[in-house]
Amino acid sequence: MRSRSADRQKGRPVTRKSASAERTVVAIYPGSFDPVTLGHEDIARRCLSFADQVIIAVTQHATHAKKPLFTVQERLEMLREVFAGEKRIACTAFDGLLVDFARERGARFVIRGLRAVSDFEYEFQMAQMNRELSADLETLFLIPDLAFSFLSASLVREVASLGGDVSRFVSQPVFRRLEKRLRA
Ligand code: PNS
Repeated sequence: MRSRSADRQKGRPVTRKSASAERTVVAIYPGSFDPVTLGHEDIARRCLSFADQVIIAVTQHATHAKKPLFTVQERLEMLREVFAGEKRIACTAFDGLLVDFARERGARFVIRGLRAVSDFEYEFQMAQMNRELSADLETLFLIPDLAFSFLSASLVREVASLGGDVSRFVSQPVFRRLEKRLRA
């Protein structure tokens, strides 16, 4: 008999003992994704080893708002292109509080990537606030591949806008959009 974890890893539908024996594990990976980088992609794919369904959720209200390069709709389009082959990853936008969106979607976990100690303070504050707002929602921190430990969307935006080559930091659909936006 095939194990459910093997099914999960191979992207096959996971069989259930019964509806109550095991709930579908939904994880939300929220962020600005302006634009999605290879680091984000790495984190999202890592979630597939423990979640049945991953929802990549683009916020309309970033806690640390920066001057956006792409609209939320454009960011979503890029995410959908990048994850087109991943049946268990859905991409959507959300308005309002993350905890409310998570409850609406039946998510047990919020996923955040942690690159370095410098990320910790901001992440710790948000995780604690989210726990105050919704005690059942657990924040999980995942560490990206070492190759992406320095990578951030804001650095990609800056380097690209100053004429640097960011082709090895983002997927092709994102690179093409950056070129179009910045070289137009
Ligand atoms: O990629 P970012 O900008 O660091 O992501 C921040 C994000 C989306 C996780 C945060 O801004 C968020 O959750 N925004 C939704 C509004 C909300 O719930 N704010 C309270 C957070 S404690």
